[in-house]
This record gives sequence, C-alpha cells and structure tokens, in this order.
Amino acid sequence: MSTVLAGHGLVKKYGSTTALAGVDVEVRKRDSLAIMGPSGSGKSTLLHTLAGIIRPDEGQVQLRGERIDKWGENRLSALRRKRFGFVFQFGQLLPELPAEENAALPLMLEGVPRKDAVARARRWFAPLGLEGLEQRRPGQLSGGQAQRVAIARALVAEPDVVFADEPTGALDQRTSTEVVQLLTFATRETGAALVMVTHDADVAAHCDRVLQVRDGRISGHSHFTVA
Ligand SMILES: Nc1ncnc2c1ncn2[C@@H]1O[C@H](COP(=O)(O)OP(=O)(O)O)[C@@H](O)[C@H]1O
Ligand SMILES: [Mg+2]
Repeated sequence: MSTVLAGHGLVKKYGSTTALAGVDVEVRKRDSLAIMGPSGSGKSTLLHTLAGIIRPDEGQVQLRGERIDKWGENRLSALRRKRFGFVFQFGQLLPELPAEENAALPLMLEGVPRKDAVARARRWFAPLGLEGLEQRRPGQLSGGQAQRVAIARALVAEPDVVFADEPTGALDQRTSTEVVQLLTFATRETGAALVMVTHDADVAAHCDRVLQVRDGRISGHSHFTVA
C-alpha cells in the first residue's frame, strides 16, 4: 500500500540538545503507528515534525510524495487544517462552544457554513458514544467524553493523517482503553493514518505498529498485527 506520510533522516536540535538524531519513519493509509519512549526522548518533536509544526534542521517530510518541510508557514497551516487532524492530551476544546460546534470547528475554519459543519460533525456523535451530548459545553463533559469530542473534531474534515500526542495521558485505565479503541477504530474507518505518542504499552497495543524512540533515535520497531 502506498505511503501517505514519510520522514527521512530527520534531525532537530535545540541548542546543545539533539531532540531528533536522524529518524526515518513511514506511514501508510489506514496504518496506525504508536511512538513510545522515555520522557524527553523526542516523541513529541517527532510527531510535531511529521505534522509540519516543527521544521527539521535536516531531513525531509513528505506527504503523498510531496516535500512539505520547506513550505512556508501559511501553506503549512492550511495543510494542517485541511489534511491533518489532531488530538492532544487535554482535548483543547473551546470552553464556550457546545460539543457539536467544537467538533465542527475545522470545517467552519475552512468556510463551511455553521449549519452544514455542525450537521457533518453530529454524524460522529453516535459512533463515538456521544449521542445526547451535542449541546454540552466542555466543562460539562467527563475527561473521556471530552477526548471523544476531540476525536470527532480530528476526523470531521476527513484528514489524511491523525496525530495524537498522549491522547489518554489524563485518563484512567478503563477510560483510556475506551478512548484508544474509538480513536483507532474511527480513524481506520475514515481511511486516515494514525500517528500516536503514548507512554502506555496497553494503549500502544491498539496500533498496528510501535516505534520505540530513545535519545532522538529509533531504538526498536514492532508489528502487532498484519493489516
Ligand atoms: N522548544 C524546545 N526548546 C528547547 N528544547 C526542547 C524544546 N522542545 C523539546 N526540547 C528538548 O528536546 C528533547 C525531546 O523533547 P520531546 O520531543 O518533547 O520529548 P518527549 O515528547 O519524548 O518527552 C528534550 O530534551 C526536550 O527538553
Ligand atoms: Mg512529549
């Protein structure tokens, strides 16, 4: 199957700290990749570099074969809005908006009228177990519910790749399992690839593959299932 996103020879330094020391990674359509490793090993830097948020000092990032690492900021931020979805540790939902508008936000930012955007977002509520919560503000949702709204938001614009940095980091074990099951299942349904950073081996086990990162390098690579 064809490669959707690839990083080759990625190097990123912060002063004397080498956050990435030459990383190669490829993800394909419907592929789910977990990135694990100790704190400070470069996991978030790798995710942000693949997502066009951090520019590497050396190496290339390719989306469907096109180099994006040299693109300007405006072009990159448009790319992130249109082609990528994001789930972070703390959902980063807008507190004043109801859940359905939070989920619809990427479409509204693209100019889709509010009504249409919300209608598309609402389609995600049943499969994500959020039915009946469309009007709730984030402050009225549990941590797990808020992360499921964040998953809806990440998927609503039908991205090529979903990036998740510690998406279950603030959840208890049972809720983590629910959230990662929904994240991996729903992302696969859309045909997107998933790149997820996690500390939790049980969470990583829901992905097809696990990359171990240590001191900015890939120190191990395992496959759980054959897609
Ligand atoms: N913006 C930054 N400025 C300076 N150092 C940074 C910055 N971001 C990350 N680092 C350093 O790069 C290394 C890798 O960080 P990070 O990718 O956040 O690790 P992880 O996500 O695995 O905990 C760490 O030593 C961290 O302190
Ligand atoms: Mg991190």
